[in-house]
Amino acid sequence: MTSTNDIRSAFLDHFAAEGHQILPSASLVPQNDPTLLFTNAGMVPFKNIFTGQETRPYKRATTAQKVVRAGGKHNDLDNVGYTARHHTFFEMMGNFSFGDYFKAEAIEFAWNLLTKNFGLSKDKLLATVYAEDEEAATLWKKIAGFSDDKIIRISTSDNFWRMGDTGPCGPCSEIFYDHGPEVAGGPPGSPDEDGDRFVEIWNLVFMQYFEQSSGERTNLPRPSIDTGMGLERFAAVMQGKRDNYDTDTLRALIEASADILNQDADGSFKTSHRVVADHLRSTAFLIADGVLPSREGRGYVLRRIMRRAMRHLHIMGAREPVFYRLLPALIGQMGNAYPELAQHKALITETIRGEEERFAALLTRGLALLDDEASRLSDKGILAGDVAFKLYDTYGFPLDLTQDVLRERGHGVDEKGFEAAMAEQRKRARAAWVGSGDTDVETIWFDARDRFGASEFLGYVSESAEAEVQAVFNGQNELAEAPEGTDVAIVLNQTPFYGESGGQVGDHGTLKADNLLVEITDTQKKNGDLIVHYGKVVQGILKPGMTVHADIDHDRRSQTRAHHSATHLLHEALRRQIGEHVTQKGSLNSPDRLRFDISQPRPLTAEEIHTVEQEVNALIRANSEVKTRLLTKEQAVAEGAMALFGEKYGDEVRVVTMGDGDEKRSAYSIELCGGTHVKRLGEIGLFRILSETGISSGVRRIEAVCGKAAEDVAHSNEALLQQVSDLLKVTPAKLPQKLESLLEERKLLNNQISSLQQKLVMANASEALEEINNIKFMGRLLGDINPRDLKGLAETLLKQVKSGVIALLSNANDRGSLIIAISPDLTDRINAVDLVREASPLMGGKGGGGRPNMAQAGGTETAENAVFDMIREKLKQA
Ligand code: ALA
Repeated sequence: MTSTNDIRSAFLDHFAAEGHQILPSASLVPQNDPTLLFTNAGMVPFKNIFTGQETRPYKRATTAQKVVRAGGKHNDLDNVGYTARHHTFFEMMGNFSFGDYFKAEAIEFAWNLLTKNFGLSKDKLLATVYAEDEEAATLWKKIAGFSDDKIIRISTSDNFWRMGDTGPCGPCSEIFYDHGPEVAGGPPGSPDEDGDRFVEIWNLVFMQYFEQSSGERTNLPRPSIDTGMGLERFAAVMQGKRDNYDTDTLRALIEASADILNQDADGSFKTSHRVVADHLRSTAFLIADGVLPSREGRGYVLRRIMRRAMRHLHIMGAREPVFYRLLPALIGQMGNAYPELAQHKALITETIRGEEERFAALLTRGLALLDDEASRLSDKGILAGDVAFKLYDTYGFPLDLTQDVLRERGHGVDEKGFEAAMAEQRKRARAAWVGSGDTDVETIWFDARDRFGASEFLGYVSESAEAEVQAVFNGQNELAEAPEGTDVAIVLNQTPFYGESGGQVGDHGTLKADNLLVEITDTQKKNGDLIVHYGKVVQGILKPGMTVHADIDHDRRSQTRAHHSATHLLHEALRRQIGEHVTQKGSLNSPDRLRFDISQPRPLTAEEIHTVEQEVNALIRANSEVKTRLLTKEQAVAEGAMALFGEKYGDEVRVVTMGDGDEKRSAYSIELCGGTHVKRLGEIGLFRILSETGISSGVRRIEAVCGKAAEDVAHSNEALLQQVSDLLKVTPAKLPQKLESLLEERKLLNNQISSLQQKLVMANASEALEEINNIKFMGRLLGDINPRDLKGLAETLLKQVKSGVIALLSNANDRGSLIIAISPDLTDRINAVDLVREASPLMGGKGGGGRPNMAQAGGTETAENAVFDMIREKLKQA
């Protein structure tokens, strides 16, 4: 038997030998198309190459692409388990020509692979072509030697392939395998074509057009080729099976499901095992690609798939979480071809287990309610919409889960009634909602959230994405278009931009389309999960409904990310080094630094700061992987998670772990956090604490830098050191010694200056002596002399003159300093304090003081003439 894994390799090798580049499967979350929920065909990652927007160094490619068809245009969820060939997850094998070869080679490559490599008999094969495509029919005749009855012309959309409502499209030709007359069913296009006899195995699409949303078609720049072979159905043919679920990979998963529940794989629960096998694949692959169960968007489709699988496990008697235990079987089957499964094993396991735990009690209670309601329905009766809504709202039953349960009993659901109950609830929420503060603006965001639902954040795994513009605002006005120069606030259906929250600043970046450039300079989160992009239209006209390419500023995000991850390490290092009382009081993570406020009664010592810094840097060097998991709040707390300050959480929480654990905790740091983080701690690079200060009683603030910012700080410190070394002409290592000797020298020099100045003053003393009203007076401006020396000088001079008034001024430090000394015999005639008080305003000062025999004042200037004249006047009157 040829295994599924062998078929995949043989397909890729065949096309590699024909000059095709083998590429790994792209993510299930489309990176280039906002209109698609999931990658739903092999050509999705190449859409922009077909349209000519993007070029690659190769013109031929081949892939095995992961595909999910659930919840979007191609939605197979409801049929899974009940048919032989429906899957929510499957692999599509394909070969692609980007304007290189066209119909003839595409048909020839396919024909050779099927008949030569895989050895299928020509008699077992037939082809369809689009009715108008004579060229394809002729080629089939020529290449395969098919007679006319083996080439079936189909005029319906079955032979015109479209990716979605818009996008590349073209006529196609499908290759069918005939299981033989003993199987019921007719050829394609016949009334009983749905039977199992004729199975489509390969679709060759001749990509020629681009379909606009208006329905108008334009030619692609060059005719191209897109083909799709469902690996599971082809494996069925190769393995002689009629049912995809009987092929090796899916059978192994079905058996794993049967084993874990101690059931017969083909017994009465056959359908449930098939649902579980299929849903396990979509669940695991979606989580590996960054989708996590949630209430909105992709996450909600994942949740629907998971809960549906859980219901089928419940039917089979499972009362404990078991779905997650099937993951090893999947990794065993597909882990080699898709390494992401093993790589994200912990995340996938815990996400599934968490969802199982959350849903277990609700499922049992909801099923009891549903049972009761269903038993009251008449034959083929329809369940009331409000009951389905109650199951949805109170018990977490997605509508399709309720439908799946009822289907087995022949009942349906009043879907219109369900929608009406949902709308009614929204209306109630709207009426009950009262904003706070800036109400008008808040109302805008409440309404936007109501209209568009949560914005899907793609930024955990990618930095750019295509997005659909849902609304454009300017202040409180919603705009139909925003021309160049308009300040705008934009809501997108999905975005890689992080909206400021949890201390992490919002992303900056650009939104682009043909002739359009919007610069985004802030991103905020509104009403919990609406992401609003603030910026300016720099070029072109922005309109709702447009598709834009959203790109975040990579450097800014990388730096912010490094700071945010370092904050987690810092937090834990502080708790370990300083004490468990350290809790977060606030934090900021921006591209250029981090700020972290903690409860801490006293300043940290230099040694403590150093120890904390060393501990963080050691963790960075150990470079362990940062893991993000989705847990219930209870699980997270049980694991020792520290809740972040001031955050509110829903049922499930993102838990970010860093560093190795010990016997007490599973990791060094465990925090609940919605922010973005480095993949490995080494990306932080370097961590430096810049300052530690008090900001209020019992709260200390630590500021630190990481990565490039830390390097910049180190660099500027070094430059400063070098500058000082150059000035002092010694190596940096000798600087302390050199500075010490310079300071010592300076002290000596100062002393010398003082004594020289004193000598100078004394030497010329007699020249300045005046006599007024029988009182000896000396008033002198001494120049740049230390004001501290004035007093000693005045005393010495007074001793020399014995009886008199001495007034000395210094203009050192660009200020005027005055001292007045009066011998004791004169203090009853004249008072030094009175004199300095008179002098002060003259010097531009604010008063002075001292004792009657010695007082001082200072001011912005010396004003020596005015001061001395004032004193002379006073002496005359004394
Ligand atoms: N894109 C084509 C399909 O999905 C090949 O069928």
